[in-house]
Amino acid sequence: MGTGRGQESEWEFGRRAWLARDQFLAPISSFHFRFSILELPFRLLTYASIYSMLVLGIESSCDETAAAIVADGAKILSSVVASQIPTHAKYGGVVPELASREHLRKIEPVVNEASQSARVGVRDIDGVAVTEGPGLVGSLLVGLVYGKALARALAKPLVGVNHLEGHIHAVLLENRMDRQAGKRVEEAQLPAVTLVVSGGHTSLFLFEEAHPPADSHPVLFSYKRLGRTRDDAAGEAFDKVAKLLALGYPGGPVIDQLARWGDAQAVDFGRIKMKGNPLDFSFSGLKTAVLYRVRGTPLACEAEQRRAWCQARENVPVDELRAQCSQATLDLIASFQNAVVRDLLERTLAAAEAARVDSIFVSGGVACNSLLRARCVEVSRAQGIRVLFPSPALCTDNAAMIAAAGYYKLKAGQLADVTLTAHASFPLGEKSEEQGLGVGG
Ligand code: KG4
Ligand code: ZN
Repeated sequence: MGTGRGQESEWEFGRRAWLARDQFLAPISSFHFRFSILELPFRLLTYASIYSMLVLGIESSCDETAAAIVADGAKILSSVVASQIPTHAKYGGVVPELASREHLRKIEPVVNEASQSARVGVRDIDGVAVTEGPGLVGSLLVGLVYGKALARALAKPLVGVNHLEGHIHAVLLENRMDRQAGKRVEEAQLPAVTLVVSGGHTSLFLFEEAHPPADSHPVLFSYKRLGRTRDDAAGEAFDKVAKLLALGYPGGPVIDQLARWGDAQAVDFGRIKMKGNPLDFSFSGLKTAVLYRVRGTPLACEAEQRRAWCQARENVPVDELRAQCSQATLDLIASFQNAVVRDLLERTLAAAEAARVDSIFVSGGVACNSLLRARCVEVSRAQGIRVLFPSPALCTDNAAMIAAAGYYKLKAGQLADVTLTAHASFPLGEKSEEQGLGVGG
């Protein structure tokens, strides 16, 4: 990897090389000299020459158009995310047709911005990684077709990445960056049980390194699915409860903040019971239980008043929204959040026990949740289990995680061809029962 310098100083070195180039070349007006002869030594000193593999990642599976450039699967040179929240907020959820149109508008500027802020020309990238599923097909197709066309035009290799695989790799990516930057963080260790918990997914995987039989290089990974939601994803439940109570969209961040003023023990929702695989999830019953607590009660009138109040305003600060919530509403929110977090944590710990691992990764948008993060830290201290999360910007959808996952596929030569297409449903990993882990029942 690179020149043997520490990664942090390589980054600084590359940045300074570019700045020196700009200063030195600015007074020279001849286009020919500037770009063909004098620029050569600076080009040799910049990122393209420092890192051995620069991957452009593209993500457009839902309502974020994202592009990123990641070096050697371990260093984010740029990560640009164009959120569509303002477009979908008034509908209380993602409108697929509007999402596709927004992606079409944003994809080119977002890729250009990723290239400019990394100071890496698209010609200098070594490969393109695009999300191929699961997600909204119209949205996925925008990023996928753009990535395919770019790879073809530049004669660069292309790989397709599963969105869930990307979320899992966000943990490894950030852990490597932190450690290379000298931060005192625990090293991510495999095998790990991984909880991917977002607006579209709630799944548990056993994440391991899978070496080819005779050779330990390049690194490949295997994913065994241990459990998944049978109905709503956890983030979807947050979003639907927020919509019911007129708290805005997306619901997760706002419930997370408002719940701090509520009593998490006020409403006892009980444990979520699962028949069959105990590592599966189900959140639709909990969402319905919240509905029954609201329907036909003063909380419903309060929610309607809040809806009218919110509609007359834009970007309501959470403090002002809190002032529009009764204590009963805050208690309900806190109790709901507590029930979701308790369920996520209990099943994840059960999965770690069944798989006999002491390393847990948590990622996806709901991994931003402050209660979930705090409980995981408590558990890791009490039980000696390593629990790792990415920082919030890498928990929610982004393209750095796609580039990081794509890096290993590029290295292993798992390339896509022109037939690469989008998949609404795109399972990652086989079921654990088929692998003999024995967690079913
Ligand atoms: O990973 P993500 O950006 O997109 C999907 O792949 O679905 O996750 C978005 C989801 C939304 O449902 C949002 O409400 C939820 O993550 N979310 C949170 C928090 N921040 C985002 N849920 C609970 N607490 C949060 N702090
Ligand atoms: Zn996601």
